[in-house]
Amino acid sequence: MGEVSMKGKKKELQDALKSLESCCPKDVSDSIQKTLSSELRKALLNLERARSREQWLREESDALLEGMTIIISSENTRKAFNTVLEVLKRLLSLDDAFVLREQGNGCLSAVASTSSLFENLVWQPGAMFRHVLAGNSVNVRDISISTDWQEQLPEIRRNVSSALHTPFKTITGRAMLVCTSSRVGFFNKSRIQLLERFSPLAGQALYNLEINDLLRDEINERKQAEESLEAALTDLRNAQEELIIANEALTHEIQERRKAEDALREAYDDLELRVEQRTTELRDSNILLSREINERRRAEEEKGKMFAQLLQSQKMESIGQLAGGVSHDFNNLLTTIIGYSELALKMLPQSDPVREYITYIDSAGEKAAALTRQLLAFSRKQMLEMKIVNLNSIVDNLGKMLTRMIGEDIVLGMHTREKVANIIADPTQIEQILMNMAVNSKDAMPHGGHLSIRTADVIISAEKDVKHLGMSPGAYVMLSVQDTGEGMTKEVQKEIFEPFFTTKVRGKGTGLGLATVYGIVKQHNGFIYVDSEPGQGTLFSIYFPATEEQVPEHELALPKPKTFRRGTETVLVVDDDASIRSLVADTLTPLGYTCLNAANSKEALQHAQTYKETIDLLLTDIVMPEMNGPALAALFKKQYPESKVIFMSGYLSGVDITSIITRGGAFLRKPLTPTTLLNKLGEVLGSREKMTGKKGVVH
Ligand SMILES: Nc1ncnc2c1ncn2[C@@H]1O[C@H](COP(=O)(O)OP(=O)(O)OP(=O)(O)O)[C@@H](O)[C@H]1O
Ligand SMILES: [Mg+2]
Repeated sequence: MGEVSMKGKKKELQDALKSLESCCPKDVSDSIQKTLSSELRKALLNLERARSREQWLREESDALLEGMTIIISSENTRKAFNTVLEVLKRLLSLDDAFVLREQGNGCLSAVASTSSLFENLVWQPGAMFRHVLAGNSVNVRDISISTDWQEQLPEIRRNVSSALHTPFKTITGRAMLVCTSSRVGFFNKSRIQLLERFSPLAGQALYNLEINDLLRDEINERKQAEESLEAALTDLRNAQEELIIANEALTHEIQERRKAEDALREAYDDLELRVEQRTTELRDSNILLSREINERRRAEEEKGKMFAQLLQSQKMESIGQLAGGVSHDFNNLLTTIIGYSELALKMLPQSDPVREYITYIDSAGEKAAALTRQLLAFSRKQMLEMKIVNLNSIVDNLGKMLTRMIGEDIVLGMHTREKVANIIADPTQIEQILMNMAVNSKDAMPHGGHLSIRTADVIISAEKDVKHLGMSPGAYVMLSVQDTGEGMTKEVQKEIFEPFFTTKVRGKGTGLGLATVYGIVKQHNGFIYVDSEPGQGTLFSIYFPATEEQVPEHELALPKPKTFRRGTETVLVVDDDASIRSLVADTLTPLGYTCLNAANSKEALQHAQTYKETIDLLLTDIVMPEMNGPALAALFKKQYPESKVIFMSGYLSGVDITSIITRGGAFLRKPLTPTTLLNKLGEVLGSREKMTGKKGVVH
């Protein structure tokens, strides 16, 4: 519409000029004509100006329109952006145009450019660039006076003389349109106005570009996602198919497995049962095995112990045999010595000086007899006269003698007030024990001390303690001897019961004391323990099996007769030792007895058959060649059932003396003396004497 009116106006003016010239009267002065013409020319010039302005405006709006169209219609946003800049460059006769966008780090970078000069550059924003970013257009008429531009590459500085910066905003931040020219002061007011109007277009273009980039990125991403989704779906589908196939196989396998599992479970149950059975069997056999091992071990230990015992008993046996053999002859010799000493002493008047010599012989004989007894006792060959006795009465009876023996420096304490059970023992042997121990304690207390003798009932239970090891459970009577003497080391304690072991000087000890004690204790089925430490004194504890039997009343009351019984009885004396036979005859004949002598059983039986009168008593040795005493007694008794028998022996020789005594036989220990012989005779014939009324006593 503008164009029409312009053209119209121009035509109008030209037409007016023409009509003015034509209608102007000739008489119009030249001056007027000149004025009119100049006015017309001015009007024409103005018209020309207006026309070029209109042209400019048209081009500008054409360019804007073109830009808008491109922006709106273009699919290729980057191309559109570049095209916009190209249009701008052309429209404004620019050298170059580019867009700088603020990055996250605050730097500026060119996102689109009409020249490669500005591409890939990082622009450090100075004060001027920051001012532009803050929303202000800046026209740098001459870049040589702009610090921001002076910091750019020389190549840029060579090509750019002036620049116009117009800011705009995008979705991602701030940006600016930079237009450059190689001419200083290129950007005049109208260019600036145009560019300011244009810059929102650049913003829109950049916005589109960015949106487009984002969209493209997103579309690409989506496409990729879709593709991978599709691929995944395909995979899934394939997998599903495989799964279905696998599932069928799996179902089959599961079934198979289940079957196998069932079979396995059954097998496992079976195995468990078998393992349990086997374990039980093993456990049982293990128990049996360990029992067997224990038994074997016990048996081994037992064997070891038995072997040691065997060695010990063999040793004792050989010592015993030696002692037995020696003491047999010894006892016979001692019988003669002691017996005739005693007879001689009885016959000699009190004033006879020979009596003293005979007393010496008698006491030497007694000492020798004691030694023989010791020998027999430790080798356990001592002939025992077992009786039911009470330990308290034995200890009490010996008290006085012990007090005398231990001397004044040692205090004797007797603890026998508590009643104790009876035991079966040979009282003289128990006395022997006490004496040997008392002597030892005395020797252990050279500077005095205390000696305590105790008796007590003791029950040994099934749970044997260490101290009473080896003892079978049951009731015992304990006899303990304790002193406050020098005591013993463990080494000495191990040896003390060995025969001939002594720590005493030669001549002081023979080492038979405790061996004798041990032998006696063992012969009584007892046990002995020692408890001692050097400097702490010594305690010996002896245990005898208790008996419930009571001491016969006549034994409790029977005092030892001080007088000897006279007699008229006939006594058959059988001993292979002539001196024994002589002593018996020499003892008995003066008292009225008739003595028949026999050197052996054969002779004795001949006497028994040929003797016209009654033989009242058989006094026979036990150990004899050919036929021993008990065998002879058995035959003799057949002929003289009413007669009494007294056995004589010095040592144990395999004959069960206890059973002989219980069968009515009496026992006389060798070496016999006239006193012991007459006492025994009195004991044995006493009852018969009452019956027959024969009686006689000698003083
Ligand atoms: N009460 C005790 N205190 C300290 N040591 C003792 C005691 N009893 C025995 N002994 C030790 O035991 C050893 C052996 O004693 P045993 O009675 O067997 O022989 P002995 O006393 O030496 O000689 P014997 O008794 O034949 O005269 C003794 O030499 C002594 O060392
Ligand atoms: Mg001793």
